[in-house]
Amino acid sequence: MFKKLTLAAFVALGLAGGAHAAGGEAHVEDFKFSFEGPFGTWDQNQLQRGLKVYTEVCSACHGLRYVPIRDLEALGYTEEQVIAYAATLEVYDDELEDFRPAKPTDHFPANTAVGAPDLSMMAKARAGFHGPYGLGINQLFKGMGGPEYIASLLVGYTGEEKVEAGATLYENTAFPGGWISMGPPLYGEDVDYDDGHANDLHHIAADVSAFLMWTAEPKMMQRKQAGFAGVFFLVVLSVLLYLVNKRIWAPIKRKPLA
Ligand code: HEC
Repeated sequence: MFKKLTLAAFVALGLAGGAHAAGGEAHVEDFKFSFEGPFGTWDQNQLQRGLKVYTEVCSACHGLRYVPIRDLEALGYTEEQVIAYAATLEVYDDELEDFRPAKPTDHFPANTAVGAPDLSMMAKARAGFHGPYGLGINQLFKGMGGPEYIASLLVGYTGEEKVEAGATLYENTAFPGGWISMGPPLYGEDVDYDDGHANDLHHIAADVSAFLMWTAEPKMMQRKQAGFAGVFFLVVLSVLLYLVNKRIWAPIKRKPLA
């Protein structure tokens, strides 16, 4: 039984690498993000750059309706900066029945103008890694791959277009099915970063994807810390239980056999 299991595991692992090609799956690149792994943390500068990309490019079509604007303080902005940023956004006020400048207590505006999906949870709604054959073993080693999927989507345009039923579709190597109705939103050098960071297509795509991971799971670091505290507690508990067990049985075990 055990032998069979190990064999199955080895076969599965061996397939992990080659499965993408075999399954004809969309291609998702394994971007390296600072928040990956058990000790990974946010790169605040990257999140700030990503916010800039979202604000200047993506927000034209996509909303972030589940994200409270005041949460931006977690990216290292001061209260004043967040107030100033909020004032640049317009939200619909149900009581006024009109649009007004946003306040930090508001959420980012929704945007349904062109039917683009809301991006608040996108990094957790999409998985970049599957396989092999839907077993999900790649996810075990690389993670769910939500931000990798978004970044790969943004750099995955081939330049091919076609018109289908009156709608233009753009070929994209990361999009399942290969054709997406979102035109390439980024070309590189779309934004100028205040910190002078590289703004080629690859970097911009990674930055905005990191930011969208944060909007989808702003408490990721707290979750990891809670995990560590839990594991630490269990380790201490195990050691104590071991020692107590030894002690309780000591008088009996020490007795010579009759
Ligand atoms: C001109 C409008 C427009 C802009 C600008 C735009 N998008 Fe989109 N986006 C769309 C539309 C429309 C869709 C739906 C595409 C579809 O399902 O075929 C979409 C879909 C998406 C999806 C979901 C793909 C999926 O798996 O369903 C992601 C992720 C995305 N956009 C990210 C971005 C990011 C990040 C930016 C900014 C860098 C951006 N978009 C800018 C219009 C836009």
